[in-house]
Amino acid sequence: MDADVSAQALERWLAALEQRHLANLTPSEVARALRALSSCYVERRAKLAHGGALDTAGKRAAFALFYAPLHFLVVREIIRALPDAGVTQIVDVGCGTGAAGAAWALEIGGTRVRGIDRNPWAIAEANWTYAQLGLPGRASRDDVTRLTLRSVPGSGVLAAYTINELSAPARLTLLDQLLRARRQGARVLVIEPIAKRMSGWWSQWEQAFEQVAGVAQEWRFAVPLPPRQWALGRAAGLDPRELTARSLWL
Ligand SMILES: C[S@@+](CC[C@H](N)C(=O)[O-])C[C@H]1O[C@@H](n2cnc3c(N)ncnc32)[C@H](O)[C@@H]1O
Repeated sequence: MDADVSAQALERWLAALEQRHLANLTPSEVARALRALSSCYVERRAKLAHGGALDTAGKRAAFALFYAPLHFLVVREIIRALPDAGVTQIVDVGCGTGAAGAAWALEIGGTRVRGIDRNPWAIAEANWTYAQLGLPGRASRDDVTRLTLRSVPGSGVLAAYTINELSAPARLTLLDQLLRARRQGARVLVIEPIAKRMSGWWSQWEQAFEQVAGVAQEWRFAVPLPPRQWALGRAAGLDPRELTARSLWL
């Protein structure tokens, strides 16, 4: 897929997201839910491990309409900046609505994506996202801490904004799986927000990745948010001026 085609696909997806998620909720209802969702991510981490982030229609709409496009843009920029991000297929662990894996896939020409999530709503949304973006992709239900990843050389494994939702033992299990995927020849990309609250596990992961020649990076992109996402962010009291993230790349 060339750059123009993927830019058009992004525009169409954003418009379709608005239609879908503002059909039954007003923008101010979604902004209120976005405030609750953001506080869940920042202050009430205990709720995350039990799926509390997506437990109401408002929070699901806020996630799909605000965070998913943000994650799409962050992943797209990171993939543009990383050397050798071309892969033959992508496994997106904790795919949510599919945005992050789709961004990687679109950026490298429309690669196949396999999304995995434990949340049935997220899986349905991810399948819708792949269809909207014209990607060969399929999401299915599984617990990423229980499955065994079998990777093929040249494929990619993505964990975007997922690891921080896991319990400490589950995180360790997934770390082993990701390192094993690398040994099997996959490229591995982990993305999380830059936040003090996760400094404990992040430095442990950083060390584990660096021991096998992985790279840890922090990112700041001056990419303007699309108008709807910018307005929702402002209305929810967030500061949507720049996109930031940190990544681990193997
Ligand atoms: C913050 S969302 C990120 C979604 C997506 N990766 C993105 O960047 O937009 C975290 C996702 O991880 C999923 N998740 C959390 N723990 C999981 C587990 N143990 N197994 C599968 N999915 C999980 C949640 O259901 C949620 O969809």
